Amino acid sequence: MKIGVLISGRGSNLQALIDAAQVRGFPAEIALVISNIPGVYGIERAERAGIPTRVVDHKSFAGKAPFEDALHDELTTAGVELVCLAGFMRLLTEGFVSRWPDKIVNIHPSLLPSFKGLHTHERALEAGVRFGGCTVHFVRPAMDDGPIIVQAAVPILTNDTVDALTARVLAEEHRIYPLAVKLIAQGRTRVDGERVTIADAEAPAAALVNPQG
Ligand code: GRF
Repeated sequence: MKIGVLISGRGSNLQALIDAAQVRGFPAEIALVISNIPGVYGIERAERAGIPTRVVDHKSFAGKAPFEDALHDELTTAGVELVCLAGFMRLLTEGFVSRWPDKIVNIHPSLLPSFKGLHTHERALEAGVRFGGCTVHFVRPAMDDGPIIVQAAVPILTNDTVDALTARVLAEEHRIYPLAVKLIAQGRTRVDGERVTIADAEAPAAALVNPQG
């Protein structure tokens, strides 16, 4: 399966996908990386891996529709079948999302549906919750909304800091994003309404992903 990765920054999740795709037998390849911000480190990571890159700068378009048309054109020209948002900081409109039904995934640094939006770890610490985590989900037009594919939880420790929690969650992000992409590329995810079921989940994955369907 050809995937396109949309980024806006340092691209550590992109790197996790690059590394996974380089392992023999991984069922997806990265066909294109697009950043909406010029000069970000994620672009350098892609170039170093020999992956085609584009900058589609939202500021150089008259509005959201032409920006999204440009994204769509780049992705379809590259033969992309699955769009992976990896720290992509623009909210995609219904118009774009409906052109990629259940074909866009996002990673978010919280246990959704808790803590949508920004500053998730600060807010988790302030709320006094006992677990943080991350979620890979299919994208719906509302921010950080859509059927959940994989989640991973981490404990919140006594005297935890935002930096420590961020690092603990990020390590899990780098593990579950490639896992979710693999499950999709293997054709093992099915979206029923707002829930995802996973066919033939292996024992280790079964602890992380939704029940078998
Ligand atoms: C990650 O925490 C991701 O979950 C969030 O934005 C951050 C991007 O980091 N959506 P990176 O660019 O992948 O390093």
